[in-house]
Amino acid sequence: MQSVFPDVSPEDRARIRQAVLAKYEQVAVSAQGQFRYPIGRQGLAGLGYDPALTARLPADVLDGFAGVGNPLAPGAPNPGEHVLDIGCGTGVDALLAALLVGSAGFVAGLEFSPAMVRRAEANKARAGLDQAAFFHGAAEALPCRDAFFDLLLSNGVFNLVVDKEAALAEAFRVLRPGGRLAVSDQFRLGPPPPDQADQAAMVASWFT
Ligand SMILES: C[S@@+](CC[C@H](N)C(=O)[O-])C[C@H]1O[C@@H](n2cnc3c(N)ncnc32)[C@H](O)[C@@H]1O
Repeated sequence: MQSVFPDVSPEDRARIRQAVLAKYEQVAVSAQGQFRYPIGRQGLAGLGYDPALTARLPADVLDGFAGVGNPLAPGAPNPGEHVLDIGCGTGVDALLAALLVGSAGFVAGLEFSPAMVRRAEANKARAGLDQAAFFHGAAEALPCRDAFFDLLLSNGVFNLVVDKEAALAEAFRVLRPGGRLAVSDQFRLGPPPPDQADQAAMVASWFT
């Protein structure tokens, strides 16, 4: 079957991954000026997150949010469920999910940037949610066993992933039969603008 995703050479894949990693290592230190959309508490409010739920996390934890949508709206976790947040960043969605699954559930946050994992772990400690755990890894090769999760969340991540087919295959591998996939993301409809039509420009503008 022909892929619907752009054909990207191995060298360009490595280049894009390195650029994504460099950007999010920097965002983990400061997100100032890094996004074209509202982030932090302003982003959460604008995207319709339940204010009664977000109020249960410290304000400075909420400030690390960099998502593009609200995957908890279609994908609200139930008490006791196993949830995986792919590309969890500083862990805001994962920690909100941890509040909803409760102490009988489990939420894993998987993240590509080691600096983001460290921030998510610090946020977990601040929130005091033992049912959350954060791991370093990539969406294209999840370090998780088959059919373990009831719900997968992802917010603003798949657009950054070069090998989207591998990431989707991994998501379905770790999801139990009948489990739910709740992804918020951004994508472009139609052909690329003329200045991004050639391969080099597409690579250079992967996440701008
Ligand atoms: C726009 S931020 C969103 C972070 C978080 N989901 C949130 O809503 O705050 C995208 C995140 O995806 C992570 N990421 C990018 N590519 C990834 C990959 N291949 N595997 C895992 N995480 C990835 C980045 O490091 C970054 O933290």
